[in-house]
Amino acid sequence: MRSLLAIGLPILVAFLAGQADATTCNATTPCPLSDPCCSEYGFCGKGHFCLGGCNPFASKELESCKPNPICQSGNFTFPDTSRVINSTLYEGDAAKHDWVIEGGNVEARNGDLILTLTENDKGTKISSTRYVHYGTISARLKTGKWAGVITAFITMSDIKDEVDWEWPGTAVTEAQSNFFWQGVIPPFEQSAGDYHRELSDTSANYHDYTIDWQPETLRWIIDGRVVRTVNKADTLDAATGVYRYPTTPSRIQFSIWPAGIPESPPGTVEWAGGMINWNDPDYLAAGRFYALINSVTIQCANQRTGANLTSYVYASGNSVTEPVISYTNRSTHLKGSAVGLGVVGGMHRAIAGAVTLLLVIVHAF
Ligand SMILES: *[C@@H]1O[C@H](CO)[C@@H](O)[C@H](O)[C@H]1NC(C)=O
Ligand SMILES: *[C@@H]1O[C@H](CO)[C@@H](O)[C@H](O)[C@H]1NC(C)=O
Ligand SMILES: *[C@@H]1O[C@H](CO)[C@@H](O)[C@H](O)[C@H]1NC(C)=O
Ligand SMILES: *[C@@H]1O[C@H](CO)[C@@H](O)[C@H](O)[C@H]1NC(C)=O
Ligand SMILES: *[C@@H]1O[C@H](CO)[C@@H](O)[C@H](O)[C@H]1NC(C)=O
Repeated sequence: MRSLLAIGLPILVAFLAGQADATTCNATTPCPLSDPCCSEYGFCGKGHFCLGGCNPFASKELESCKPNPICQSGNFTFPDTSRVINSTLYEGDAAKHDWVIEGGNVEARNGDLILTLTENDKGTKISSTRYVHYGTISARLKTGKWAGVITAFITMSDIKDEVDWEWPGTAVTEAQSNFFWQGVIPPFEQSAGDYHRELSDTSANYHDYTIDWQPETLRWIIDGRVVRTVNKADTLDAATGVYRYPTTPSRIQFSIWPAGIPESPPGTVEWAGGMINWNDPDYLAAGRFYALINSVTIQCANQRTGANLTSYVYASGNSVTEPVISYTNRSTHLKGSAVGLGVVGGMHRAIAGAVTLLLVIVHAF
């Protein structure tokens, strides 16, 4: 099984953003000075483009992106949408908002955050304003249950380290787990995906889905039961000597998106359980498809505290092969001081590898 989330989300965003004429960016062609920040979706811009998801290695400078707001443990609920803001209006104050809407629409009802999918909005995606750099993240949620509709709960870093829970279409008694290193699947035979079956209907019942992401082990847990464990040691890619294991600060993302649409590749449609039926009685009755998030609990892994630490940044390491994640006390606000007050202590997490090496070399020149 190969997760197609990485294919699906850009589809979603292309529809939503209408950015056909925007400058694109990647590691080999970083953004220009006029629009220095490379967004999660590979478009150059200013302002909110420099906040969550901004890829430092595809941006004008390593420092073009604002620092990643540091992890904060807590139990996040949705009595209303006051802690959620449209990403285009967000200015970087993670003390005011816990989530940004990257596209689509949300509503708060009966303690749930409803993520909607309509033929027009092409689905909804929200991201946490803060990052997790290792930690345990649990979400109590109900999935969609319709052919072609995908519900997802993932962690995603600015350089595409990713850990997934996904619920495709009509398969309401299973959950799928997956992970990526810098957008690439680990050196496993076919893929890094797995199925977890025999759940009570995931659309009708809340389950607690957990991503327990630690420096040496990654575990997926359902209702307190460990269903999968991956050891970093087992992700070594012999050809490059690189551990294809997620190591970089990540946002938490929830989405519901349309995979069963004519624009999707046939494999994606099949994985999603077929084409979406926009005449489904549920859709006609509610005017939307939906997924419900009841609560999100975050337990940050041990990290440095004190000295007014606000954020994580990608700092140039002593070796160009290793981006280094450091803590800083720099402002994460768009209007905060752009120039760092200095990196306060390093936490070395080697993510050496061919891709990274290329990124860093390009950047350095
Ligand atoms: C990077 O972006 C440039 C400019 O859009 C494009 O020509 C090039 O093919 C892209 N490279 C990769 C590896 O995607
Ligand atoms: C989080 O808060 C919700 C609502 O108060 C509660 O039902 C849930 O048990 C809490 N989770 C944890 C892990 O404390
Ligand atoms: C977010 O705000 C922009 C600008 O005001 C607006 O065009 C867009 O429709 C809004 N998106 C959502 C999902 O509310
Ligand atoms: C933390 O910030 C406050 C207010 O800016 C400052 O007075 C204090 O010295 C800072 N503490 C450290 C350890 O930098
Ligand atoms: C930020 O860190 C620098 C370097 O350690 C220190 O000089 C400065 O006082 C700190 N600023 C705040 C607001 O804590």
